[in-house]
Amino acid sequence: MIVNEHVSKYIESLDADMPAGLMSLEKWALENEVPIIRHDTQQYLRFLLTKEKPKAILEIGTAVGFSTLYMLEYAPSDCRITTLEKVEMRLVHARQNLKGHERIKLIEGDAGESLKTLLKTGEKFDLIFLDAAKGQYPAWLPDILKLLADGGLLLTDNVLLEGSIAESKFSIERRDRTIHMRMREYLHALKHNDLLETVILPIGDGLAVSYLK
Ligand SMILES: C[S@@+](CC[C@H](N)C(=O)[O-])C[C@H]1O[C@@H](n2cnc3c(N)ncnc32)[C@H](O)[C@@H]1O
Repeated sequence: MIVNEHVSKYIESLDADMPAGLMSLEKWALENEVPIIRHDTQQYLRFLLTKEKPKAILEIGTAVGFSTLYMLEYAPSDCRITTLEKVEMRLVHARQNLKGHERIKLIEGDAGESLKTLLKTGEKFDLIFLDAAKGQYPAWLPDILKLLADGGLLLTDNVLLEGSIAESKFSIERRDRTIHMRMREYLHALKHNDLLETVILPIGDGLAVSYLK
């Protein structure tokens, strides 16, 4: 946690409850160690969805569908969500949890390839939520930006790597160095792209919010 835990708990105590279905899915995900968006990220997302009223959302990293259903709840009633996931042990639950929601399209397979397929359709998204394999972010960024509508928002979760993003690469465990290096590369690319205005917020595990000008 980046923000003082005591303060975070207080802020959380002010939040209104989510619908029961989302609460039980969140509980199940946490009990089964599925990484899902944290409470402060949920609140910020809810705020943005209400304010921006996106009509088309692309989510990269469905897991079991918690954030997908969360966005469906707070986005406008005519918003469509396309969500990408490749891992079978997650897909088994995602298929089940997202079944019957006609405004949600689950695309199975590697997100890098799914992004290429989506590019061919010419579809654009008002909001893209990137929450998948962190090491792939720099490689996926060019395609993601092509899929983002003018004036759209790209939200990237977990960009602060539990705070280790600020540490020197020499103090990072060898096995984590590639992700550390790629996330720094990614954040640099976001902050130095003239087409984007990006703010990095210390909520959840760090959320980069980029606006395509
Ligand atoms: C942090 S979880 C997503 C959590 C979800 N957004 C939520 O908050 O409910 C990241 C997901 O990305 C998926 N993922 C990782 N690499 C991927 C890839 N190359 N293509 C598609 N999905 C991928 C993982 O299997 C995992 O389920």
